[in-house]
Amino acid sequence: MSISQNIKISENQWSELSTAAKSAFNKAYAPYSNFNVGAAALTSANKIVQGCNVENASYGLTVCAERHCIAQGVINNDSTSTVEFTALVIYTEQEKLTPPCGACRQVIAEFFTKNGQIMAVNHLEQQQKWTVAQLLPDAFTPYDLINKT
Ligand code: THU
Repeated sequence: MSISQNIKISENQWSELSTAAKSAFNKAYAPYSNFNVGAAALTSANKIVQGCNVENASYGLTVCAERHCIAQGVINNDSTSTVEFTALVIYTEQEKLTPPCGACRQVIAEFFTKNGQIMAVNHLEQQQKWTVAQLLPDAFTPYDLINKT
C-alpha cells in the first residue's frame, strides 16, 4: 500500500527500466496475438523486476506483461512488508504506444504509490507518462475494504 510519496525517478532509472522492459519484450509468449509486450517495474527498495505477456490456447487465461511483472516483484520481495512499486515501463514495438489495460490498472493501483508513474515506450523511443491516479482515478483499493463509517 502507498507509503512512500514524492519519489523522483531519475533519467537513469527510466533508461534502466526501458532496457529491462525491452529485454522482457523479447521473452514474450504471444503466439496468438503476435503482440509482444515487455514490462519492468522499480520497487521502493530500488529493485527492478521484469514481466512479459504469456498467452494460452485458452485465450482468456492470458497474463499481461504488467501483472506478470508485479507478481515477480511479490515473489522477489526481500522485506517482510508488502512490496511497493514507484515506476513501471511498458515496451512494445508499435507506433501507437501501449497503455496498460483496465485489469492491469486495477492491479497497479493496489501495489503502486499514488504518485507512482507509468511510462509507455516503443522502439522509436517515443514515450508517454501517466501517474497511477491518472490511469485509474478513484480506484478501489485495500483501504476500501476497511468497514468503517
Ligand atoms: N497485453 C499486455 O501484456 N499488456 C497490456 O497492457 C495490453 C495487452 C497483452 C495481452 C495479449 O497477450 C496481447 O497483449 C494482446 O492483447
